[in-house]
Amino acid sequence: MFHPNGPTFLELARQALSSTQRGYDLLAAKFDYTPFRTPDELLESVATHIGESDSMDSALDVCCGTGAAMRMLRPLCRERVVGIDFSHNMMAVARQRIADAPGDASMDFVMGNVLEMPFEEEFDLAVCFGALGHILPKDQERFVDQVASSLRPGGRFVFVTSHMPRMFSLAYWFGRCFNAAMHVRNFVIRPPFVMFYLTFLVPEAKVLLERRGFQVEVAEEVFSAPFQRACLVIGRLESPEGNR
Ligand SMILES: C[S@@+](CC[C@H](N)C(=O)[O-])C[C@H]1O[C@@H](n2cnc3c(N)ncnc32)[C@H](O)[C@@H]1O
Repeated sequence: MFHPNGPTFLELARQALSSTQRGYDLLAAKFDYTPFRTPDELLESVATHIGESDSMDSALDVCCGTGAAMRMLRPLCRERVVGIDFSHNMMAVARQRIADAPGDASMDFVMGNVLEMPFEEEFDLAVCFGALGHILPKDQERFVDQVASSLRPGGRFVFVTSHMPRMFSLAYWFGRCFNAAMHVRNFVIRPPFVMFYLTFLVPEAKVLLERRGFQVEVAEEVFSAPFQRACLVIGRLESPEGNR
């Protein structure tokens, strides 16, 4: 449907009728041939805003999927990069695909729900790409709290989002119609597939982070086409000594 090696329409439909976790397990082998995988061009551009090679000890990729961001993070880290995801098969693909990622930091995988992460003040940086739509509005505060607890004081949470698209734009109506279809699907079929567009947008995301003690910078117009509408959000967790 998207690529000769990508999933067929029927495979995607089967995925969408499963739970989120099972859906990604089914899609894993073909995920990198879908538009849902965060493109390398975007990740490379984000990397230039995060830091230089070997500039931090450790980083966490939240909802790492097939490891697109872990490949980008490895050269930036001196010690370790950890990916967490609840899909066993997505992480199995990640393990293979990023084995040759440049850098020396160890790369570890943790299978788990990102609403219940087992980390405590362990990372200098956490990122989350292509997965914020999997967090229901009722869970957003808890999610941000989990990320914050994983970070060391002064650590950063970095992700890409956008502003609400204009009301008469295709993006706006695509998002609204997709979300309506997902609400109907989840009303009729159990377990739900949690995936919604138009969530975690600026300025709501900024408010969420600030409430949990992050100082937030939203960088606009930092990406070139076709990502020019995307904003880079960098939240820095306040440290006892204060942020510099
Ligand atoms: C669209 S993929 C994004 C993967 C990768 N970050 C990327 O940008 O290519 C979303 C990933 O989030 C994971 N995921 C969704 N909800 C999750 C949750 N509550 N806990 C852990 N992983 C979750 C899925 O298993 C899937 O691998």
